Formats: sequence, structure tokens, C-alpha cells
Amino acid sequence: KRILVLNGPNLNLLGTREPGTYGSQTLADIEKLCKEDANSLGLKLDFRQSNHEGELVSWIQDARKTADGIVINPAAYSHTSVAIHDALRAVGLPTIEVHLTNIHTREPFRHHSYVSSVALGVICGLGAAGYRYALAALAEKLSD
Ligand code: DQA
Repeated sequence: KRILVLNGPNLNLLGTREPGTYGSQTLADIEKLCKEDANSLGLKLDFRQSNHEGELVSWIQDARKTADGIVINPAAYSHTSVAIHDALRAVGLPTIEVHLTNIHTREPFRHHSYVSSVALGVICGLGAAGYRYALAALAEKLSD
């Protein structure tokens, strides 16, 4: 099965961005972990990041033909993007939303995510491990 892993704005800065909040791992480190897990789970992984809402929307649309499931950390767009919500709803692929931090213990503007209501599940607060749990969950879901 093919999994599209999408990362939203500013996640390209991981490692140097507010390390007290987001940790010292870079996005490349997270991609490596995900690729290792994908290999052992028998998944094909397409791991991407964009700072542009429309590009993320287009990639989600393309996933209709190229993926069986989606893992997405929409970053700040979680809290603002009806367009990403609509794209995920339109595509209808099993989707797991991941956040490195626990958005519910942070500023009130991070407590609501437009993506959660179209996600199969939501993992937050567990750092990079959240991506790994999401891949494991999708592998199991897609084998049913
Ligand atoms: C984040 C949480 C968001 O509120 C924030 O805008 C991010 C990262 C996380 O992974 O914890 O950029 O999605």
C-alpha cells in the first residue's frame, strides 16, 4: 500500500525552529524514521513538505490516484484551512492527523483543527513517534 505523508508550513525548519517546543530532530530525520518503518511494514512512502496551502490541496487531490492512505501534519493550516478539510473530505482516503506537540496544552488558537473532523484518527503530543504510530495504524487499517 502507498502512503502519502504531508507536512505543512514551517516544518522544513524543524531542528532549528523553537527546539524547546519542537525538539532537535529535523524533518529529514523524521523522514528517515518513517522510511525505515514503511520498509518493515511493507508500505511505499511519499514524504513531502510545503509552505503553500494550494500545493498541499493539489497533492491531496492527486492522492486519489497515487495513494491508499494519508498521514498529515498540516501545521498552522490545521487551525485555518477549510480548503485542506474539503480536499481530504473529497478524496476520502483514510487519513491520520499528526502533531508533534500537544496542541490542546498550547495557545487556545491551536485547540481547534479543521482536519480532525475528516481524519480517521488524531495523534498529538508524542513528537516524531506520532508519525510512526500513524503509519502502523494505517498499515493495519489497510490490511483489513
Ligand atoms: C504543529 C502544531 C501547530 O499548531 C503549529 O502551527 C505547527 C506544528 C505540531 O506539529 O505540533 O506548525 O502542527
